[in-house]
Amino acid sequence: SSGVRAAEDGEPPTVIAHRGASAYAPENTLAAVDAAARLGIHWVENDVQRTKDGELVVIHDDSLQRTTDVEEVFPGRAPWKVKDFTAAEIARLDAGSWFGASYAGARVPTLEQYMRRVERNNQNLLLEIKNPALYPGIEQQTLKVLSDEGWLDQAHRASRLIVQSFSADSVRTVHALKPGVKTAILGTPSVANLSTYATFTDQINPSYSTISPGYVAAVHAFDGAHDKPLKVFAWTVNDAETARRVAGYDVDGIISNKPDVVRDATGGS
Ligand code: G3P
Ligand code: CA
Repeated sequence: SSGVRAAEDGEPPTVIAHRGASAYAPENTLAAVDAAARLGIHWVENDVQRTKDGELVVIHDDSLQRTTDVEEVFPGRAPWKVKDFTAAEIARLDAGSWFGASYAGARVPTLEQYMRRVERNNQNLLLEIKNPALYPGIEQQTLKVLSDEGWLDQAHRASRLIVQSFSADSVRTVHALKPGVKTAILGTPSVANLSTYATFTDQINPSYSTISPGYVAAVHAFDGAHDKPLKVFAWTVNDAETARRVAGYDVDGIISNKPDVVRDATGGS
């Protein structure tokens, strides 16, 4: 045929378990990391925030209310912000019962505990710095934990770790502090901003519902901070039909609460 081939790499997507395999186990707990591992999923995504006394912990919301029993344990402390509780207080909370009785006793992990489990499972980590405006200096602190846990060695930097944030400023800071670490900007920036962003990031990670094949191709046209085409990981895709459609946009990764469904639908890994 004389038809022009689409500029697709044909590679099935990398599959990332969103907040761990969060359709099957309570999000951002060690149980969710293990659930992903049991499914044979090699990448997990998490959300990192900071306690009142400066410990990094893994939790999505800026409040403890939705995913723990904090209302019962500390009834007078509304609105139960993560930043207003000490690490010792948070360690008392049950982060599993809201999801299902069989997960009673699951905890909000510290970043250190979380990374040790990911390492033990031989998985890879897409680490999100969440709400960085609430936590001045969290970029440097996160990099310190990563370094202390051995995750800034060459092998981890090359293929096992990506640090992402909705805050492009936060991503810029991570890159300035440790230029070897791969980074991603969350959201769907305009193509006009990509030449600047490409100087300090390796990926753009948008909501799948905001993108088209043309947008993905436009992102791929830029070389990122490590001189390879900017990649695209799309979130959060939880059904087979959508997964096949979004994989057809030539995205490089798909972030999912049901990573097994996405893998089986796309042939990804
Ligand atoms: O990794 C993508 C996704 O996690 C971004 O949104 O709100 O789930 O952190 P959110
Ligand atoms: Ca996230």
